[in-house]
Amino acid sequence: MSNASSLDQHAADQHGYGASHPSGILRWLTTTNHKEIGSMYLIFALIMFFVGGAMILAVRAELFQPGLQLMQPEFFNQLIGVHALVMIFAALMPAATGFANWQIPLMIGAPDMALPRINNWGFWLLPPAATLLTLPFILALFGIGDGAVATGWTLYAPLSVQGGMGVDFAIFAIHILGISSILGSINIIVTIFNLRAPGMTMMKLPLFCWGWLITAFLLIATIPVLAGAVTMLLTDRHFGTNFFNAAGGGDPILFQHLFWFFGHPEVYILLLPVWGLMPHVISTFSRKAVYGYKAQVYAFIAIGVLGVIVWAHHFLTAGLPVPALLYFMYSTMAISLPLAVLFFCWIATMWRGAMSFETPMLFALGFIVLFGMAGLTGLVLADVAADAQYHHSYFVVAHFHYALFAGGIMGVMTGVYFWLPKWTGHMVDEKLGKLHFWLTVISFNLTFMPQFFLGLAGMPRRIPDYALQFAEFNAISTVGAFILGFSQLIFAYVVWKCIRGGEKASDKVWEGTEGLEWDLPSPPPLHSWEIQPVIK
Ligand code: CU
Repeated sequence: MSNASSLDQHAADQHGYGASHPSGILRWLTTTNHKEIGSMYLIFALIMFFVGGAMILAVRAELFQPGLQLMQPEFFNQLIGVHALVMIFAALMPAATGFANWQIPLMIGAPDMALPRINNWGFWLLPPAATLLTLPFILALFGIGDGAVATGWTLYAPLSVQGGMGVDFAIFAIHILGISSILGSINIIVTIFNLRAPGMTMMKLPLFCWGWLITAFLLIATIPVLAGAVTMLLTDRHFGTNFFNAAGGGDPILFQHLFWFFGHPEVYILLLPVWGLMPHVISTFSRKAVYGYKAQVYAFIAIGVLGVIVWAHHFLTAGLPVPALLYFMYSTMAISLPLAVLFFCWIATMWRGAMSFETPMLFALGFIVLFGMAGLTGLVLADVAADAQYHHSYFVVAHFHYALFAGGIMGVMTGVYFWLPKWTGHMVDEKLGKLHFWLTVISFNLTFMPQFFLGLAGMPRRIPDYALQFAEFNAISTVGAFILGFSQLIFAYVVWKCIRGGEKASDKVWEGTEGLEWDLPSPPPLHSWEIQPVIK
């Protein structure tokens, strides 16, 4: 382990376990170092990103032309449901948590996360949970059970009450993932509240930390509700209760309320860490201080609060009373105000800046433009009258992929390209990074833009076969999806290459950012608390 010796030395210095520190696999199983745990989160996320991607490429292949070619409808349903669960819980959330682990201690001048062993536990709960989600696919190959959860990721009752063994696996996986998220959130809140460098008041907290702080509170507020909902589902399935069974006096719509009380804030859980990261990247490559720091903090808080009171816009067509429809429509639309504040601040940060367009900045700009599309089409869907047309159509699928791929995943890529030099000590291959960006942006639009038109023309989501009139747009979308999927191999290669070597990164990494960096060296030099982060 010669190449790990400096890391071991670092760990020994920090935690005082010296030569007895385990090596090899034991080291990774027992590590409490925030950087090592951050790296594990990020690598796990990257692997699961490809797992979830492979599933949806099979789905897109099936949808390439009308008729059933590759799979039975039941297997199709399993693929789309597990794709969503894997991408949300095993790819995007762990990636954001990896960012938090790496960057929050560095940004606030803490030696590590406040609760390092809980940090370790939080990570090591993830691989078993991901295994539980995907195991039913493998068991089905050996004739055990009927495959993975086939209800879509939303697990709507009554389908999920009657569904096969895969639903039980998904329920157990969601419980474990939830525990992991709660542990991570507690750790982040405690770290930010207690371990800030002296003089760093909350209103001097870097915006990335603010974004994650709101995320952590949202997780703690909503994950227990999801856990309750799936537990009620479990007792409905196996222990004779009738929470969601109309025949027994239950209410299937109750499940939708409980699920989306978690499900809508979950969107902001996936996006707030990325929104917090954007001002760092934009200000760095515009060579200007962040515009509207306080406005962005208040916008984060406003979105966090509004995020938990708008859940029923996911089932406006389920027969809610008209006053409820109006309330959920207007409250949902109100979110566009703080969101517009964020967009304004990001653009104002660029205004008259000395901009340059390295890969992280390209991804940030791609994010702003494409995520803007998600916001605008979200306004359309929030409209009760319009939603009656678009509900459960491909328009919705296109909308939330603009939010969660162009918003979430491209945001994560912004962060990876931005921070890789800091994490590895090596510069990223700019040529390959730019190639990855352009292939991603073009093929992303090729994949999802046609789905808006499919939805407008009336194609429902979650169907393995469709009418002939939808053939062209589906073919285009599938071609785009395959280019998009295989382009991500470039990303994996760039990351691997950067870890292995390359041009040495300077302390400031990106030129011309002097004075704009928020980060302290980590671990902070002992007894040097008078060294404050430079905050403009
Ligand atoms: Cu929502």
